[in-house]
Amino acid sequence: MLRSCELITFAKKQDERGVLVALEGESHEVPFSIERVYYISSVPSNCRRGFHAHKDLEQVLVCVCGSVSILVDDGYSQDTIVLSGCDKGLYIGPMVWREMFSFTEGAALVVLASKHYDAADYLSDYNEFKRLVVGAAAEEKEERE
Ligand code: TYD
Repeated sequence: MLRSCELITFAKKQDERGVLVALEGESHEVPFSIERVYYISSVPSNCRRGFHAHKDLEQVLVCVCGSVSILVDDGYSQDTIVLSGCDKGLYIGPMVWREMFSFTEGAALVVLASKHYDAADYLSDYNEFKRLVVGAAAEEKEERE
């Protein structure tokens, strides 16, 4: 898994009445203060979404129903995670390109985010994303030397 991503397992409260999962911000489940929640559903199985990175946003994705594949790319390597199960969350840090695809019928993807919606925080051009990643790495290297 990429350094800036992590698959988190949440505690399930399960009994004969069903399953309950509780998520709190600034905890080991969601390592930031939750400022926004949005969800994605009714996605046709042949549809791919995302195609962007965020400059400064943390998110935890939970596929509460069905499953979805998520490609994450930090500019150097890629991983694809099949996210399913209401007790699994995918943490994605800043500067990670993501694409979501293969939504199963009825899948619902809930996203917890560290900031309000800001269109200016999006990097929707892969080449620009890559340029910024490489530039930041060069700056870090210079500072170390
Ligand atoms: P979009 O970024 O295209 O979704 P995806 O990341 O899955 O490709 O978002 C679809 C629309 O929803 C777009 O018009 C922006 C809007 N939007 C909001 O208004 N608030 C939000 O928090 C998000 C994530 C999107």
